Amino acid sequence: MNERFEKPGRLSVAPMMKRTDRHFRVFIRGLTRKTLLYTEMRSINAVLHGDREKLLGFSPVEHPIALQLGGDDPETAAEAAKIAADWGYDEVNLNVGCPSERVQKGNFGARLMLDPERVARCVAAMASAVSIPVTVKHRIGVDGHDDYDFMSSFVDRVADAGGQRFIVHARKAWLDGLSPKENRTVPPLRYDAVYRLKAERPELCIDINGGITTLAQALDHLEQVDGAMIGRAAYDDPYLFAHADSLVFTALGESVSPELGGEPPRGPGITRKEALRAFLPYLEEWLAKGVPLHRLSSHFVHLFKGQPGTTLWKRVLADKAARVGAGLEVIEEAMAQVGEGT
Ligand SMILES: Cc1cc2nc3c(=O)[nH]c(=O)nc-3n(C[C@H](O)[C@H](O)[C@H](O)COP(=O)(O)O)c2cc1C
Repeated sequence: MNERFEKPGRLSVAPMMKRTDRHFRVFIRGLTRKTLLYTEMRSINAVLHGDREKLLGFSPVEHPIALQLGGDDPETAAEAAKIAADWGYDEVNLNVGCPSERVQKGNFGARLMLDPERVARCVAAMASAVSIPVTVKHRIGVDGHDDYDFMSSFVDRVADAGGQRFIVHARKAWLDGLSPKENRTVPPLRYDAVYRLKAERPELCIDINGGITTLAQALDHLEQVDGAMIGRAAYDDPYLFAHADSLVFTALGESVSPELGGEPPRGPGITRKEALRAFLPYLEEWLAKGVPLHRLSSHFVHLFKGQPGTTLWKRVLADKAARVGAGLEVIEEAMAQVGEGT
């Protein structure tokens, strides 16, 4: 197994549709070299039959990066995992946590927790097709199946099949009656169930997800589990990752890893503006490829969260980034509204 993923104390950015696209990931990478980045979910059928460059393309700087797949067919899951590995992904993850109707219609996502045999067959097929880690992101339960034993027997069955790491969103999902958004807020968080899973199965890698909004909270979880995954807060307050390398990874005694070219982890010294300035050449490159500015700038609109001038910064972006031909001058104008930002 790739040893990067065996180390304890991992921090990751969650897979999020329409958010964790390649541009957002590169932006986050400018703040943290070590945090594992997940893609948006890609359906297995799309990976097999769609435009792969569009669906799977990423920049080398994004490593370590995990592709999340959605699907329920072992044979095609294995094919998609192989494609992911050949494409250079560091991990392939199966989505067993999404409750959206569209995903349920395809019989994947959270609904699959009701069919551990199928998940086990998918994971076994994927694990035998690739040498990168095969991981599963799931909930603590679905609908009325929300007792600890339901989740732990799901995990045991999938671990037997070769699942190496489980990322547990510490809420159950209601398959009927709640929207995906409500399914991220209404069912209560039950971190205790995830801690217990790790305590009783120390040999498994268990990451926790759900409701983590600060690195301090992530560090608290890392006392109990192997990894902490941050979703919405990564988008709503990306600068928190400026402290990730120093606070989370080095605090846990990781040395500078050779796969990062021997470069030290990013220190907490980088300012918000420095992070943005460092991102400008990337923006320029993609603007030149015809990507409209607002599709790129939407990913860092919250960079100055809580800073003086942030309302004006956002207003300039909202007013001007969507205009035809908008370029870096809009970013410069927006940046002039805010301070350096530490
Ligand atoms: C806009 C949005 C899109 C999401 N898309 C996915 C997805 O593609 N795959 C997935 O497993 N989870 C998805 N999620 C769920 C997150 O990965 C995460 O489990 C959830 O937001 C809880 O973590 P948080 O409280 O840190 O946000 C999405 C969440 C949001 C807000």
